[in-house]
Amino acid sequence: MTMSNPMGDWSRGIEVLFSEDRIRARIAELGAEITRDYAGRELVLVGVLKGCFLFMADLCRQIDLPLKCDFLGLSSYGDHTKSTGVIRITSDLKRPIEGENVLIVEDIVDSGLTMRYLLDNLQTRKPKEVKVCSLLDKPSRRRVETKIDYLGFSVPDAFVVGYGLDYKGRLRNLPYVGHFSEEPPD
Ligand code: IMP
Ligand code: MG
Repeated sequence: MTMSNPMGDWSRGIEVLFSEDRIRARIAELGAEITRDYAGRELVLVGVLKGCFLFMADLCRQIDLPLKCDFLGLSSYGDHTKSTGVIRITSDLKRPIEGENVLIVEDIVDSGLTMRYLLDNLQTRKPKEVKVCSLLDKPSRRRVETKIDYLGFSVPDAFVVGYGLDYKGRLRNLPYVGHFSEEPPD
C-alpha cells in the first residue's frame, strides 16, 4: 500500500499557515535584528522545551554573535488544547544566569501564563536583562499582558501545530506551521 501521507491520520485536515520558506525567511530577519541589537554583548538563549527545539536550532544559526544555549522544560498542558494555568519546571537550566543577557526562545505565547511564570522565575536568578523571542503569538487569547521583544508571526485563535508545536505529542516534525481545518484526531 502506498502511503500518500507519511504522518498518517495525525496530519489529516491540516492547512498550512506558514510554509517552510516563510519561516526560514522570517527567522533570518529575526536573527539579523538580534545580531544588530546585541552587537558587542554576549547573550544566553534560553529555549523552552519541547516546542522551541526547531526554532532555537534555526534561530541560533542566524545570530552572528558569541552566545550560549541553555534549555528548560516547562509543562502547562498535558494533552489538552487549552492552558490549565498550572505550570511547572520539568527540567531546569544547567547554568546560573546571574549577570547574563538572557533571550527566552519560545514557540508560542497564548494565554501568556507560561511566559509570566517563566519571567518571574528567571528574575529571581538576577540576570542582567531578560527579553523574549517567540515564533508565534496568539494575542486573542491573552490572559496576562506579555511583552514579546522579537516575534515571528501572529496567528489567529486556532490550535496550531508543526515546526516544534505538538498536538497530543505528535506533529512536532512537520516542517511548516499549520492548523486543523477539521476536527483533530482523537
Ligand atoms: P500559554 O501559557 O497559554 O501562553 O501557553 C504557552 C504554551 O502552550 C506554549 O509554549 C505551547 O507549548 C502551548 N501552546 C499554546 N498554544 C498552542 C497551540 O496552538 N499549539 C500547540 N501548543 C500550544
Ligand atoms: Mg512552549
